[in-house]
Amino acid sequence: MAIVTTKEMFQKAYDGGYAIGAFNVNNMEIVQGITEAAIEQRAPLILQVSKGARAYAKHVYLMKLIEAAIADAEQTAGFDLPICVHLDHGDSFELCKSCIDGGFSSVMIDASSKPFEENIAITKQVVEYAHDHGVVVEAELGTLAGVEDEVQVSAEDSSYTRPEDVQEFVQRTGCDSLAIAIGTSHGAYKFKPGTKPQLRFDILEEVSKRLPGFPIVLHGSSSVPQEFVEMINANGGNMPGAIGVPEEQLRKAASMAVCKINIDSDLRLAMTASIRKFFNEHPDKFDPREYLKPARAAIKDMVAHKLVDVLGCNGKA
Ligand code: G3H
Ligand code: 13P
Ligand code: ZN
Repeated sequence: MAIVTTKEMFQKAYDGGYAIGAFNVNNMEIVQGITEAAIEQRAPLILQVSKGARAYAKHVYLMKLIEAAIADAEQTAGFDLPICVHLDHGDSFELCKSCIDGGFSSVMIDASSKPFEENIAITKQVVEYAHDHGVVVEAELGTLAGVEDEVQVSAEDSSYTRPEDVQEFVQRTGCDSLAIAIGTSHGAYKFKPGTKPQLRFDILEEVSKRLPGFPIVLHGSSSVPQEFVEMINANGGNMPGAIGVPEEQLRKAASMAVCKINIDSDLRLAMTASIRKFFNEHPDKFDPREYLKPARAAIKDMVAHKLVDVLGCNGKA
């Protein structure tokens, strides 16, 4: 199967009360771990590439790795793995255009830190180019706290999405999905230790009332599994107070209008925990294949858990 857009995936996810996992990819082991889980679970998939990932691995390598995963699924499992290749947090028209021209089937234009009218203008420009090329567009309203590439947004500067803005924004831009801010944030430190993590489902409800049938996206949705944090800390790491979004709240979001749930930090944690443990237990080893193999398996297990127990998209491809 060729690379697909999110159109059909989102329609089915909206109607079926589940969500598609959007996982960030940066290298071969990450692509393999995620896609092996999706093949086994027969799950549709979004693989997303940030500006930083593109700078790290180069566009062509990531594209070819994803194409290889599709070919491998076909050859080894006889399975047409539906994959959408998506630009995560595109910050300019030029970056979005370059990814569209380079074969991505979906782009995000994130102008959420700009004033409303400016956000509309740049999003509209991207939508026009993307739709002319058969590519779909995710936009964002509201600002998440946390770290994305060079941009760091403090909790004080973050702001929830205003439901009263969403209809006008979607109508005027023509975007295909909308990322909203309801209390998630990027990275491994989402909530203060001792406080109760709570997403604003009232805002999500209000947004979906104003945009019936329209796919909503949740960024910053890693749950920061404590087993990984403990494994990192037990093997020379130092990540005190790392806390994520409780999985039952992600399940609830997936049953509502949220069709795409973004996960990157949990991949980093799974991989880092595995590699730290390996190095601690085998200080004499130096063959990268020996420590990347369990790291890839840790990613696969973690992703399989998300697909089945959190997103509910297993068996939907
Ligand atoms: O939203 C941010 C993603 O986790 C990507 O992170 O920009 O460091 O690749 P990155
Ligand atoms: P996490 O940092 O919670 O994994 O969020 C990833 C994300 O939103 C990518 O766009
Ligand atoms: Zn994000």
